[in-house]
This record gives sequence, structure tokens and C-alpha cells, in this order.
Amino acid sequence: MKNQVNKFYVTTPIYYVNAAPHIGHSYTSIAADTLARYYRGVLGEKSVYFLTGTDEHGQKVQKAAEKKGLSPQEFVDEAASDFVALSKTLNLSNNDFIRTTEARHIKVVGEILEILYESGDIYEGKYQGWYCIPCEAFWPESQLEDQKVCPDCKRPIVKISEKNYFFKLSKYQDQLISYIEKHPEFILPDFRRNEIVSFLTLNKLEDLCISRPKERMSWGIPIPFSGEHVVYVWFDALVNYLSAVGTFSKDKQYKSPWWQPQTQVVHLIGKDILRQHAVYWPIMLMALETAGVKGIKIPDVVFAHGWWMTNKAKMSKSRGNVVDPQDVTERFGVDTYRYFLLRDMPFGQDGNFSEESLIKRFNSDLANDLGNLVYRTLTMVEKYYQGDVPQLDINKTKFDQSGEEIKSKLGPRRKALGGPDPAASYSFNFSAALEDIWKLINLANRYVEETKPWNLAKEKKDKELAGFIRLLVEVLKAVAGEISPFMPQTAELIKQQLGKEKIKKTKPLFPRIEKAQKP
Ligand code: MSP
Repeated sequence: MKNQVNKFYVTTPIYYVNAAPHIGHSYTSIAADTLARYYRGVLGEKSVYFLTGTDEHGQKVQKAAEKKGLSPQEFVDEAASDFVALSKTLNLSNNDFIRTTEARHIKVVGEILEILYESGDIYEGKYQGWYCIPCEAFWPESQLEDQKVCPDCKRPIVKISEKNYFFKLSKYQDQLISYIEKHPEFILPDFRRNEIVSFLTLNKLEDLCISRPKERMSWGIPIPFSGEHVVYVWFDALVNYLSAVGTFSKDKQYKSPWWQPQTQVVHLIGKDILRQHAVYWPIMLMALETAGVKGIKIPDVVFAHGWWMTNKAKMSKSRGNVVDPQDVTERFGVDTYRYFLLRDMPFGQDGNFSEESLIKRFNSDLANDLGNLVYRTLTMVEKYYQGDVPQLDINKTKFDQSGEEIKSKLGPRRKALGGPDPAASYSFNFSAALEDIWKLINLANRYVEETKPWNLAKEKKDKELAGFIRLLVEVLKAVAGEISPFMPQTAELIKQQLGKEKIKKTKPLFPRIEKAQKP
């Protein structure tokens, strides 16, 4: 199946606009951007589509707007622009930015609701539950004690029963389980798939209430067949993956260049929103297929990554330990931030963010290893060859053992990310990929120390010196190519310096940081 793949569609979650952008938003975006850039290299520029955006409906947004004294629309316009600004700061190469308040999205959500209502997978029913009027929240029986009070504000709650619309999740439970069994790459990493499988085998899925009465919550997409309801924000949000890249025609044909069998559809998400993506979303798509919709499929991969903590605690506004990506990138540079996030914590696991560990990695991996290799290579080309790279073919040159080892490691290193290239399965192992590139950098640095080029120059061993320097230049070219999806600006700088007619040493790329200080 992978052999036919020639396109790649990668998405981030669409971010809630009720909170300011933080590290969690930047993490998925940077990972998705790196994949997109990497696959553009493998499959070609036009064969990759990278989508991100904002999730703008729902009660939280409505409340946040009220608090600011703005209309919901004014509020979301302002907040969405912060997320667009963040995508520029992070140097994202996204092809599109979807906002759920856009007409193109609202239209597709409405069409999907109608199709599923007509097919009977959305039906009218009664929702009963314990409700806290001041908090505007339903509470499940399991979270309540004998005296029926709100677990949050401790005020009395009331049982209400109201007309709502439900989506038949339960009908597709078995179909979903067998789909997951047949497609082991649908949910990654493996331990997350196991979580979902045991959830699905131990619990009976209940149908999902997908409407909210307007009198309680009006900031949502109207349900076309009800004058009184808007749609539940998750049902609305998941549809963005379709609404951004295609449209429905009258005969239930979904038309998009990015959902075809030969496109790998990959959703990157955080572990907290796995159930929506691995249960609700595929069932929504199965229900559409059952209703006769053509041109859709279940996504190929949903990968749930872990969470960043600060000083081992969950980040939260009230703890005051939220990492602001604008601030970190301003002080340390965007590529440092991208490198740290992808290198320090294996994708899929949890990790800890601290400025000390960022500075430590900066000084060792970026200043000492990469920065140093670039600096000393450029310096030697200038010093020994007046800026002209020695013209020779390293493949026809015989090196000593270390040199030969380096030469053998110059080819592309694709395994760690895996993916649509036919031989590989997905691993999304960003940290291992970087580690592998750094092995080459460190081999090259050690080679300089071992070879002592200043002695070769003194002893006029010109042939050896020329081969040695040319090999280092080739290492830098390879490294620039390899790091470019991860650190695009740095890669570009290295390429520019190597591409000059007369090569000169320049300022160090990553001057050491002596201690943590706020400007
Ligand atoms: N709007 C929904 C997603 C809808 S997708 C159809 C949402 N938005 S969110 O803004 O709350 O979260 C977006 C992403 O940020 C989630 O994937 C979440 O896992 C991630 N993170 C939030 N805090 C995080 C960390 N501290 N660390 C890593 N990622 C975390 O959920």
C-alpha cells in the first residue's frame, strides 16, 4: 500500500483561542512543520500539504469574550491573529490556516450534519443530567456525592432534561475495533493504541450528544434541521481536516486532492485529545461512508505526543509556569527552540521544560558541536585555501580510517522519521533523527582534533590537507541538508556561507550563553 503513496497531508490540532499561545501549541506545530519540510524533500514540494488553524466556537470562547467585553466574533478575530503571528515566529511552512468561523468551514459542517441526519446516524433524543446553572456545566453522576451540589462551586444543582441531537457512536464500535486491528499504524505510539483498544473493548460506547440549546450556548454553528441548537464544539472542530481541503458536491462526493488513497493523512495531536481523534473522528468518517459519501477514508495515522511540564508540574496559568514561545524564541532564537523541543523529549513521551536544560543543550550541541564545526571548517578554507574550496572528488580520494568512516556516513538518513518512503514504517522519532545527525557532526569534530590540520600545513602535506578540508565541507553540506527540516534558518545560513565565491569565516552561529539572564 505504501508503494503507491505519493502525497502527504499533515495536520496539527486546531487551537482553542480562549487561552494565549503556549508551549503546547508550539510543540505540535513545530513537529508537523518538520515533517512537512522533510516530506517535501522526499516527495517534492507540491506533494505535501500542511494544515494548522484555530478552534473558535464553544462555551469557553463565549465566556472569554464576555469577560473582555467583546462580541465573540471580535474576540476570536483578535485571538486568531496571535496564533497566526505565532506560526510566523516559529517559521512554520503551513500551506493554509483554517479558522472554524470561516464560511468554508461552516458550510461543510452543515452539509455533514444534514447527510448524517438523513441517514439516521444523527437522531433527536432527550438529554438528562445534573446541571449547575451558575457554572453552566453538566456533571456526571459518578462525580457527584449524595447531596447534589456542584463539585466546583458547591451550590445546589438541578436535574434537567432537554431535547438534543445524538450521534450514533455505539453503532460503529465493532467496526472501529476491527479497523484498528487491521491498521496498526492508525494509532501511534503503540501504547496509545493499546489504551484505545482496551477502552473500546471494556466499555460500551454511548451515543454522543452533539447539540447545545442556543438559549444556553449560542456561539456555535447552527444545526440546519433545528432552529434551537448549535453543534457541539468537538463535532465542529474535527471537521476542519475536511473543510480546509475540499468540498462536498450535491451527489455526496467529497472532492479534495488531499484525502485520496495515495495521500497519507497524518494527524499530530497531544495525548489529551486522543479519544476524540481515535474514536469520534473515524466513526464520523465511517458514518459518512455508510451514508453513501464518496471520496473519503479513515486517516492513515493519528500520533499522540506527550506533554511538556515545567519543573515536573503541569503547566497552568494559576501556577504561573506557562512557557511563552514568543518570549523563548526572542531570547534564544527560533531554531534553538525548535531544536530543543524536538531533541530533548522523545516524541510520544512526557518531558520537562526548563531554561537551564535549554541553555545546556544550546552550549553543548549547538555552540560546541555544530557551531564549532561550521566555524573551524570555514576558517580553514579561508586560512589554507584563501577561501576557495579544494576541487576534488572525495569519492575518488582515499582517506585514513576515520575519514573513510565519515565518508560512508554522508548518505541520507531517513530511517528515524520513517513514513511514506516505501521501505519505512512511521516512527516520528525526531530526537533519534537529530541524535544520528549529531553523531556525524561529532565524528567530524573528532577528526579535526585527530588529524591536526595545522601540522599537515606545516609539513606541506598538501594532498592530505586538501582532501581533509574537502571532506569537512561535504560533511557541512550533508548536515545542512539533514537539519534543514528541523532548523531551516540555520541550514540556510550554512548553505549560504558554503555557497560564497570566496569562503570566509563568519561570526559563530551559536555564541555560548554563559548564564541564564533575562534581557
Ligand atoms: N481545540 C482542541 C483541538 C481540536 S482538534 C480538531 C484543543 N485545543 S488546545 O488549544 O487546548 O490544545 C491543543 C494542543 O495543545 C493539544 O494537542 C494539547 O495536547 C496540546 N498541549 C497543551 N498543553 C500541552 C503541553 N504542556 N505540552 C504539550 N502539548 C500540550 O484541544
